[in-house]
Amino acid sequence: MSELNNIALKILENGKGILAADESTATMTKRLNSVNVPSTPENRLSFRETLFSSSSMNECIGGVILYDETIRQTSSKKNTIPELISNTGSFPGIKVDTGAKVLAGSPEEKVTEGLDGLRDRLKEYHKLGAKFTKWRGVYNISKNYPSKLSIHSNAHALARYSSLVQECNMVPIVEPEVLMEGYHSAKECLKITSEVIKKCFEELIIQKVDLKGIILKPNMILAGDKSKEKISNEEVAKLTLECLKTSVPSDVPGIAFLSGGQSEVEATENLNLINKHNNTNFIMSYSYGRALQQSALKHWSKDIHNIEGTQKIFNHRAEMNTLAAQGKWSKDLEI
Ligand code: 13P
Repeated sequence: MSELNNIALKILENGKGILAADESTATMTKRLNSVNVPSTPENRLSFRETLFSSSSMNECIGGVILYDETIRQTSSKKNTIPELISNTGSFPGIKVDTGAKVLAGSPEEKVTEGLDGLRDRLKEYHKLGAKFTKWRGVYNISKNYPSKLSIHSNAHALARYSSLVQECNMVPIVEPEVLMEGYHSAKECLKITSEVIKKCFEELIIQKVDLKGIILKPNMILAGDKSKEKISNEEVAKLTLECLKTSVPSDVPGIAFLSGGQSEVEATENLNLINKHNNTNFIMSYSYGRALQQSALKHWSKDIHNIEGTQKIFNHRAEMNTLAAQGKWSKDLEI
């Protein structure tokens, strides 16, 4: 088994998932401001260190995606943050894209940047302890979008990124996110997401990426948040499985969903149903940002020194999602 395949499988073994704590400073500032905490480097670290030293890290969190600021910070016990994470048995990872920028030729859409100088940045992150990386392409659904241009450009960038990451001995997380925002139906989300994912694999293969050494991070198939259509969680699971079964090559070891604006319990419930009905060979787990951190952040903001209280809330969410990644969650386990 290749080293990269081994890392990908270890990150997602036994229902483990990924904590996406890679919010850029601008996004983290919005999150902290929404709970009335000043966004200083110390406060950003304090919240994140609280999560990274929780007991659920051992059993539930196979990997943590960091932001550039955090991977360089030192914990209150004088460990580097990658050390703190590795000591729990989890893998440190790093977001390496530099954000979604206006796409020339289709200015309503975005293309993710960050390829220039990436090889050298990767070498540095690897030295700092990163074992895997993340790059997110983003697509909006509306009448004329996403365009072929955006589907192609983002897939090309994701593939070039992945190839450089594997060259540097790390596992690339390939994240093409079709956004939930919009008026579209779930059927439209299914059609577009399938097209987007297929294009990504076409480009990954051209760039000679070893598909056994990646993790795919897709959205679930949902109706747009402004659409009148309401589909059941069972239907979300069914459509999501249909999409992945037909679009993802069987070499891919694991799929870790983003939460994309779903509520915490909704993201858990949908993941649980996906696993209950999983008729594929893929591991289906989570790589959640908001759906793992929302309640913990709210609690932490009330008293940032009450570490145990915040950890209890985070542990519960991580445990619920790890059960869901095995199809073993039920609503009565929620508090
Ligand atoms: P959400 O789970 O909050 O969508 O974030 C996941 C992520 O990493 C987006 O890039």
